[in-house]
Amino acid sequence: MLDKLSQMKDQAIKEISLAENIQILDEVAQKYFGRKDGALNTILKGLKDLDPDARKDVGGLANQIKLELEAAVEATRATLMKRDVESRLESDWLDVTLPVERRRGHLHPLSIIQYELEDLFQNLGFKILNGPELESDYYNFEALNIPKHHPARDMQDTFYVDNPHNPDKWVMRTHTSNVQVRAMKEFGAPLRAVVPGRVFRYEATDASHDTTFYQLEGFMIGEDISIANLVAVMKTMLSGLFNRDVKVRLRPGYFPFVEPGFELDMQCLICSGKGCSVCKRVGWVEMLGCGLIHPNVLEAGSLDPRKHSGFAFGLGLTRFVMMRYGIEDIRHLNSGDLRFLNQF
Ligand code: PHE
Repeated sequence: MLDKLSQMKDQAIKEISLAENIQILDEVAQKYFGRKDGALNTILKGLKDLDPDARKDVGGLANQIKLELEAAVEATRATLMKRDVESRLESDWLDVTLPVERRRGHLHPLSIIQYELEDLFQNLGFKILNGPELESDYYNFEALNIPKHHPARDMQDTFYVDNPHNPDKWVMRTHTSNVQVRAMKEFGAPLRAVVPGRVFRYEATDASHDTTFYQLEGFMIGEDISIANLVAVMKTMLSGLFNRDVKVRLRPGYFPFVEPGFELDMQCLICSGKGCSVCKRVGWVEMLGCGLIHPNVLEAGSLDPRKHSGFAFGLGLTRFVMMRYGIEDIRHLNSGDLRFLNQF
């Protein structure tokens, strides 16, 4: 019996050391320690047929062998596991010194300029407002002193959308000026706000016209707001945006919602007013429309024109972006073309 046990032990040790992987090792362990028909148990079951002395010897040896074999199995298991990890490390080899190509997102050029202007105006105490892109005829035209059938409507042809609740159609807003009267009604006076946003026009597209583009509207309303305030704010904005002192001039311009109305030009930054191809030899570049808010518009906003006055301006954000980055075709901006966008 004792011999049988030692033989079994030698055989088991051999098999354990030969196990190539953990699965085989488990099978070997099962073969020797398995409860039902493990070799060790089978031998131990025969103990009851032995006389008490022999039982003691055989039992003691069997227990010792069991401990030894268990230790051998665990040692082999540890070796096998370590080898597994090492070989996985080898096959999943990773060079941590390789530079990582980090592809970060970035802002669209329109957003860059928009946020710059928002910062600039916030520093001057202006609120940033939003307005609807699908607008009533009233806020886009009527309230801005552009009655129906007035020829001024032809200046901004738009997309009309049926309105089931109203015989007046909805319009895709043609300018951010739609927020002027909305803001006056909501906040009253004094009021300083800018409104960046998307606008729509029924245009034939070409390099400088698109059906969808971006504007930034601004207005300042209070007591005794004058053209001097308008010019000061415009110069501050343009100097901030182009990072240098700029010269501006006003020319008469017609917008039904301002009186007087102007086109504001900036002296050409390329030629300092001498005349070049950028300013088409005139020395000045047209930047935006502006003026003093028409009394009818103040009234539409529930303000008293005898008490309050204000200026308003509307600039083409899209145009600013094109000028700042030298983009020659407006259609790039809404194209979603990564070859274009990844340059910013
Ligand atoms: N809304 C005008 C446009 O889109 C610009 C403008 C705004 C002019 C405010 C005067 C005052 O052309």
